[in-house]
Formats: sequence, C-alpha cells, structure tokens
Amino acid sequence: MKVKKYLWAVLPLALTLAGCKSGGAEDTTKPVYLDTTKDIEERVEDALQRMTLTEKINVIHAQSKFSSAGVKRLGLPDFWTDDGPHGVRPDVLWDEWEQAGQTNDSCVAFPALTCLAATWNPDLSRLYGHSLGEEALYRNKNMILGPGVNIYRTPLGGRNFEYLGEDPYLSSRMVVPYVQGMQALGVASCVKHYCLNNDEEYRHQVNVIVSDRALHEIYLPAFEAAVKEGHAWGIMGAYNLYKDQHNCHNQYTLNQILKTDWGFDGVVVSDWGGTHDLDQAVKNGLDMEFGTWTDGLTMGATNAYENYYLSRQYERAINEGQYGTEELDDKVRRVLRLFFRTNMNKERPYGALCSDAHYEAAQQIAQEGIVLLRNEGNVLPIDISNAKRILVVGENAIKMMTVGGGSSSLKAQHEISPLQGLQDRLGGSVEVDYARGYVGDVGGNYNGVTTGQDLNDSRSPEELIAEAVEKAAGADYVVIFGGLNKSDYQDCEGHDRKTMDLPYNQDDLIVALAQANPKTIYVNISGNAVTMPWKDQVPAIVQGWFIGSEAGRALASVLVGDVNPSGKLPFTWPKSLQEVGAHALDAFPGVWREGTGIIDEEYKEGIYVGYRWADKNQTNPTFAFGHGLSYTTFEINNLRADKKATTDGNISFTVNVTNTGDREGSEVVQLYISDVECSVERPVKELKAFQKVKLAAGESRDVTLSINGRALSFWDEESNDWKAEAGEFKALVGNASDNLPCEVSFTLK
Ligand code: BGC
Repeated sequence: MKVKKYLWAVLPLALTLAGCKSGGAEDTTKPVYLDTTKDIEERVEDALQRMTLTEKINVIHAQSKFSSAGVKRLGLPDFWTDDGPHGVRPDVLWDEWEQAGQTNDSCVAFPALTCLAATWNPDLSRLYGHSLGEEALYRNKNMILGPGVNIYRTPLGGRNFEYLGEDPYLSSRMVVPYVQGMQALGVASCVKHYCLNNDEEYRHQVNVIVSDRALHEIYLPAFEAAVKEGHAWGIMGAYNLYKDQHNCHNQYTLNQILKTDWGFDGVVVSDWGGTHDLDQAVKNGLDMEFGTWTDGLTMGATNAYENYYLSRQYERAINEGQYGTEELDDKVRRVLRLFFRTNMNKERPYGALCSDAHYEAAQQIAQEGIVLLRNEGNVLPIDISNAKRILVVGENAIKMMTVGGGSSSLKAQHEISPLQGLQDRLGGSVEVDYARGYVGDVGGNYNGVTTGQDLNDSRSPEELIAEAVEKAAGADYVVIFGGLNKSDYQDCEGHDRKTMDLPYNQDDLIVALAQANPKTIYVNISGNAVTMPWKDQVPAIVQGWFIGSEAGRALASVLVGDVNPSGKLPFTWPKSLQEVGAHALDAFPGVWREGTGIIDEEYKEGIYVGYRWADKNQTNPTFAFGHGLSYTTFEINNLRADKKATTDGNISFTVNVTNTGDREGSEVVQLYISDVECSVERPVKELKAFQKVKLAAGESRDVTLSINGRALSFWDEESNDWKAEAGEFKALVGNASDNLPCEVSFTLK
C-alpha cells in the first residue's frame, strides 16, 4: 500500500526527469550552455511540496566532510562538493581530513589564481573553469569550492596566492568566465570567501570595520560580477565577522546585499566551521552548513552532523514552534535548484580527468601568466645556441609545490619541477648543473598526500652559498629559483606571513650569485610580493607563481624564449610594508576587543588599496600594478574617444598598438579613468578596461576599449548607490599603471 502511494507521488517528478536527454555525447572541448530556467523552477516546487520536514532538514547540512544528503525517496542523490580552486582535491575519508586512499583521484594541478589573473586574459579564465569543471565531473563532484576572489590587501596575506589580485575590475573580469566555463558543464562554482576575508591568521576572530565606499568599490565588485554576470550557483560565506556578525550568517552581506540587492538565487554555503549560531543561521541567509565542529564531540565523530545547527536543532525548533517554515523552504528551494542545475541535470557530459587538453590548458595559462619583471641588457631569453653550461640554483627549482598551502593542496598526477623543465628542454645540448643554494622547508606532506621527496640537506647556509658561487663562476647563466613555498606562515592557509622578506637567507645567496655571474636570473616562486633589496644588482627577474603540473615546462619555455612572456602583475609590488596602506596606517591585523576574543580590524586605508595607495602617496613601488615586460617592444599611441561628451558614460576609446620589435608578442592595453573633479576624494586613477592583443613583429593594430557609467562612478554613501558626477574625466592608456603615455579628456554631462 505504502509503496503504491510512493509511486504515485514520485511519478510526475520521474516523468519530468525522464524528459531530459541523457548526456555524454557533447563535444567537451566547447562550453555547453544549459537551459536552467523555467523547467527547473517547476521541478523545484514539485520536489519541495513532496518533501517531509526531516527530508528538508537533511539537505541543508553536511553528512560527511564534503557531501550532503539528497532525498533518496525522490531520486535525488547525495550532493558532492570539493576544493577548488586550482584542481580537484583528492578524496578524504568520510569523516576525517586524512586521505581516503583512492587511486583515481590524482588530478591536473592548474596554476594558482594569481597566475591566472596575471594572464589578463578572460578567455583563459573560461578555459580554466571549463577544464577544472571537466575534472570535477569525472570525479563526480557537483560543486567546486572556488574561485577565491578576496582582494589582495597586504603582501602578508597567507592566501593571496589563491586569489585574483588587488584590483576589483581585473578580478571581476577574470572571475566571470571562470564561473561560466565551469557551470556550462553543470558543475557549480562556489565563489569564496564572501566577504572581507583578507586576514588568515585571525580569520575566525576578525571583525572588519570598513567604509561602505571601500566595501562596494574594492571588496565586493568581484563577488557582484560573479553573481550578476557569471550567475554563480554557489557562494561561500567567510569565517570573519562584519558588523559583529559572522559572514556565514550575516544580515547585511547575505540577506541584504547578496540576495536582495544582487538577486542571488543560488546557495550560500558556510565555510567549513563558519557557522556559530542557530538563530542567525536560520535567519541571516545561510543555506547549507558544512564543516561545523559540534557540541563537545571530537571533530569527525560519526554522528556529529546530526548536531549541526541546521540539523536536528533546527528541526526541533520548528517542531516546537520557534520558527515557521518560511526560511527553511527558501533554503531548500535554493538547494533543490542547485541539485537540478548540477547532479540532476542529465545533459551533463561525463567529464575527463588528466586529459591532454587539460595539461595543455594548464601550460598555456602558466605561460601567459609568468611575468617578466626586469630584463636589463636583455639577459633573457637564454641564448641556448651559445650557452654551454647553465647553473640552476635553489630549493624551489626542485620542490613540489602542489602539495601544501591548505585546502587548495592537490594530489597532482605529475608536477614538472623547474629544474626538470630546463633539463628536458635543453636536452643534451646545454649542460644543466644544479646547486641547492638554500634549504627552506623540507617537509612535503599535507593531509596524508606526500611528495615523496627527500629534501634534507644538513649543510650550513655558508656552505650552500659557497658551493653555488663556485659553480656560478664558469656558467653562461645562473638561474635561481627562490621565493616562498606552501608551508605555514608562507603562502599558506591558516596563517599570514610574518614578514615581507624572503626567507631562508635567500637575499645573501642572490647577492652572492649576482656578484659571481653577470648573467644571473632570479625566478621568484610565490603568490605574494617579497622585498628585493638587491633588485638593481640582478639583471633579470621573473615572477613564476605556483603554476602547478606543468610548472617546469612553462618556465623553461619562457626562459629560453620559446614563449614570449606577456603576463602583467595583478598587484602592486611594494618596496616594503610601509608602502602598503594597511601597514602604513597600522591597520593590520587590528586591535583585540577586551575580553571578547574578537579583533576589530579597521580598514583605515579605505579605498586606497594597492596602486590606489601607491598613486596617492607616490610610493614608487618596486614593480607597479599591471607591469610586465616582453622580449619584443610595443608602442601605444594615438588615443581617441568616440565622443567628447557623454550623458550615460557609454564611451569608446581607440588606441593604436604597434609591435616595434622583431618577434611576435602579446601586449595588454590598459585603460584607467581619472575623475578630474569630484565632490568626494577619488583615486588618482582606476583600471576600467583592458585587452590583450597578439601582434606579429612590426604589426600595428587599433584596439577599442569601451566603458559605461559604472566606470565613472563612486559609491555614494548618502544615497547608498553608485553615482557618477557630471564634469571632466580623463582616460589614460598604456601598458602598466606606471606607464600610461596616452591621455584623452571627456565630459560627463
Ligand atoms: C577553507 C575553504 C575550503 C574549506 C573546505 C576551509 O578551511 O577556508 O576555502 O573550501 O576549508 O576545505
């Protein structure tokens, strides 16, 4: 009898589902844009009406480290999510952070997001999201916990390497195609960490105090773009507080801004352990609770999930009349929508893991993101036809970087080290010698994934330097791979860096080698700026990021000139912390509020983050935002506006770009807007458009960049809205924030 009743209940839903095409046949190299509107809403309502209270409660909280329950009765399977954002994280045990020990969860490690941002190429961002989405599909993950778009506020930020840099416009342009590329496959993107999560060390304690203007102009735009343009299906709340409420259940950021102002129709997922209060979790915009440590149970106790705020506690409270079901139904609708968009979407292709196409994508992104910071005397590219011996120095030439760094740690199917990459590229024609140079962190284990490398070396710093200097003397080139790594207090989740300086005595090593060999090249592996007191003594400096599986291959191709570098810094590279607003104003990490365990961190620098601060204070950084050299040269001139005056801010600018050198290369044409007169203080200039163009030697082309009213606006704290004031503006165009030779004025009427 009961079974029969079931069948009747399920039949309409089953029929709806049966109407879907079964997938797998699509060309997975091309994004497929799914129809995710009307029929989904009908299916959501249908399923919602059939669900019991307990079933509804079950879908809004975790049942394991990375999954939540579906509704088996209705044919809704478990929902699986995984980190993100640079590759699909290997499976951990159901209830523990240790490895599940699968043999099919090695992945392609894509370049960390700072590198993606440094490509200034939104097409590559789409390719990134799409390739990662295919890996997720193969592994049966329905949502990737990424990308991360928190703003680079200080070079001490432990997770900057996971983000898209300091500029709200650049990060917005890069996040949208990432999300679209991934979601086109029916894999949700969970954009994180919303919002104001700019401090790792005290991420659970920091209560951010920030002006509405800085919030809207600097910290929110990338999230806004991900939601309004990318139509992200997931947003992860951040650990920290804002207006004294945790960001995983925050009335202002979630209910007001995200869901009401921006119309977000997806799911707000708590960061793992970011839920703290039943009432706020019910009322303040959280939809799915993950990772909570529970009521005195040890972390990972098998029944812990039942003790989550949005689990039995919530169910009891509803049964006792403390809450109605309005909030619950809103959460469940969103979760069901997520199911129908992802694992219940039968049009999804099957995905692919570690495919050639994915390695190619990883390599291309890496090659376009590597930044040539300095190249005095054209030391680079390495002239391999005349070189006999190259000395490679440094721990980062051999250390695997895909393991470590926190939740973005991966089990890469392969990772080509910089040393290996150079050896492979140069074959037998050039001798590639190696000296360790410094010993950093010899560990290589994260949550049970081990690199298998034994990097122990008991020699003293002096001995290591002496060996490298001796070998450097007779070498045609010395290539040092140094920088940071993914260990605690470096580029790693959970802590911030303690200093901006290079660790492990590397400054001494670099100076000694530069003195020993005039053709010394320093490749900095990091997601953050480091101090370079020796900059003028080292002729060539390259920013090599953490670029994943194809690291060595990509670096070698740029160093020997197979690839002409075209990356541009997505953040300002200050000489010291004193050139960073947050530090100059002593506004990091804030002040403990007595007896509360809370740190009030006031963003005293307001909107003056990155180059906005450098411009205002004329700090003359080591390298400017947007800076990056090429092996060819470009000239940018003849800037024109399509009109002299605009009433709505829609205006186009055309500029001529010429490759004046003798080899093909790509340049990023950057357009900044300067508000000449305004009733509020405005940054000297702000990036509002850019385009990457590839030009053959001698080729010349016009590039058109368009802006709209938003590009001229500031956040008006009185009307609580964007406002553009009539008057004169300037458009400044060039190839770096400190090299903008073209200028044209126009008026907003
Ligand atoms: C991190 C998130 C991550 C989550 C799950 C948290 O500690 O902040 O970025 O997605 O863990 O691993």
